[in-house]
Amino acid sequence: MQHVAARGARIPALGMGTWQLKGAECRDAVSAALELGYRHLDTAQIYENEADVGAALAESGVPRDEVFVTTKVWYERARRDDLLRSVDESLRRLKLDHVDLLLLHWPNAEVPLAESMGALDEAVERGLTRSIGVSNFPSAMLRNALELAPLSVNQVEYHPYLRQDEVAAVCRARGMAMVAYSPIAQGRVFEDATLRAIGAPHGKSGGQVALRWLLQQSGVVAIPRSSKRAHLAANLDIFDFELDAAEMRTIGQLSEGRRLIDPPWAPDWD
Ligand SMILES: NC(=O)c1ccc[n+]([C@@H]2O[C@H](COP(=O)([O-])OP(=O)(O)OC[C@H]3O[C@@H](n4cnc5c(N)ncnc54)[C@H](OP(=O)(O)O)[C@@H]3O)[C@@H](O)[C@H]2O)c1
Repeated sequence: MQHVAARGARIPALGMGTWQLKGAECRDAVSAALELGYRHLDTAQIYENEADVGAALAESGVPRDEVFVTTKVWYERARRDDLLRSVDESLRRLKLDHVDLLLLHWPNAEVPLAESMGALDEAVERGLTRSIGVSNFPSAMLRNALELAPLSVNQVEYHPYLRQDEVAAVCRARGMAMVAYSPIAQGRVFEDATLRAIGAPHGKSGGQVALRWLLQQSGVVAIPRSSKRAHLAANLDIFDFELDAAEMRTIGQLSEGRRLIDPPWAPDWD
């Protein structure tokens, strides 16, 4: 497995997303992923599946220190005391004494950035997480946050239909990783004629091409989600081929600048 270095953190470049997976479906998918060789799991307080992720991890027999676990604090809990309480609750559900990465899930305009960033830092000092980051932070806000805390990651929507040049530039300049969420555009890439045509001579699907395109960019990590063992295996099977510069450029031109994830509480994007 390829890794991405991010200010002290060493992140497996391909992780498993778990949004919308719950209960037995979540436990089975996480178990399958760990069996297949995934060593990076992405959950969040708001996904209501931390207990399932933790149970599957515990049952897997994979040593804790071999798995990179990320969780997120919901943006409505961005005040110091509440943020730290949220982390304690997450760890209790995960049955872990620490996570590897703790993210603030969305910015919260009503809470001073210094307060939330200070609380993330405090979570590191208390040993609750090894590293910290943010999610859904546009570039200017990310720069401000970086003045306040040593962030390793910004997790943002990123796939062939949405460029992230501004955020990527800040991440690269500051040695952070940019974690691509919805990296297969929630399934759309599988039907894409351009991606399929690029994949065909490599014997790869549109989804595998999209994931390979992400991971060939420096500092980029991807966290596709699947509930199905065969899909999880296919998403991991991207380390035996390479896209050339022309193929990378062609995929980079598919962007439409439209977001799949744009809730009412989203900030003004770049
Ligand atoms: N920070 C944030 O605000 C934020 C927001 C969104 C997502 N995320 C994170 O990013 C993760 C991934 O994003 P996402 O869940 O939005 O979507 P995604 O990973 O882009 O796409 C998931 C969809 O693709 C399908 N799929 C996966 N592999 C496939 C394959 N090999 N062949 C065919 N279909 C396949 C899945 O269905 P099957 O189950 O049938 O395979 C599912 O419907 C989330 O789970 C979450 O951990 C974070």
